[in-house]
Amino acid sequence: MAGITDGNFCEKMSIFGFDMLTIGGYNIDNETINAGRSIIGRGRPEFDIKEENILFTIEKESSIIKKAWDGKVSVNLRSKSPDPIIEISKINEIDVVEINAHCRQPEITDIGCGQALLYDIEKLYDFTRDVVNKAQSKVSVKIRANIGNVDDIQTSKVIEEAGADYLHVDAMKPGFNHADLNIIKNIKENTKIFLIGNNSIRDLKSAREMISAGADGISLARAAMNGHIPFDLSKI
Ligand SMILES: Cc1cc2nc3c(=O)[nH]c(=O)nc-3n(C[C@H](O)[C@H](O)[C@H](O)COP(=O)(O)O)c2cc1C
Repeated sequence: MAGITDGNFCEKMSIFGFDMLTIGGYNIDNETINAGRSIIGRGRPEFDIKEENILFTIEKESSIIKKAWDGKVSVNLRSKSPDPIIEISKINEIDVVEINAHCRQPEITDIGCGQALLYDIEKLYDFTRDVVNKAQSKVSVKIRANIGNVDDIQTSKVIEEAGADYLHVDAMKPGFNHADLNIIKNIKENTKIFLIGNNSIRDLKSAREMISAGADGISLARAAMNGHIPFDLSKI
């Protein structure tokens, strides 16, 4: 969660039994940094994340977590091209770089980043493949489901073919306050990639349902915003 999940926040979350903690998302090239500034200008302060020296910031934030915890640290990244993501994968403390194909802020999608990647399947493949080929960490791709005019199964297959290690799916179901478990089930039936199911996990029931639908792992954001987890992860 941009503006929330920094090193100190994740260090505090490390006691709850996660095996991966994600910092960011960060804007990491000039185009996304400028887009981020416009977003801040219309009152979304979570995009104010000190991008001036982004490599240094990510090194610093990830090492705060690694000093306290030996689980995996991932970083969610918005970039117009693969190279800045590849650079960040070289940071020792980073285990996973996550390509953000999820952000729906117009300033980001207008420059072809975030969710806009889902509308250009060839670019998504080439982008992911390039990061996979050159990264010195594992690679995750985070997508948002059910955005309209996008075939989520085709998208998932393309990400798998490109060689990503993780597919992180925000199984958003517009108009509902629970995840679209059918899309998770469908993706699982059509791919073999490690699938992280996300959206509206807030208790044991929703976590178990996500796993039963086929997710290999779960992630949660809003339910952890106050620095606590409202259920015992080990009981899933
Ligand atoms: C304040 C806030 C900031 C977020 N920032 C990001 C981000 O930078 N990158 C990203 O991929 N998702 C971001 N998300 C989306 C969440 O990671 C997650 O996909 C979404 O909230 C659905 O999961 P949840 O129901 O567990 O919150 C953000 C969500 C919130 C509430």
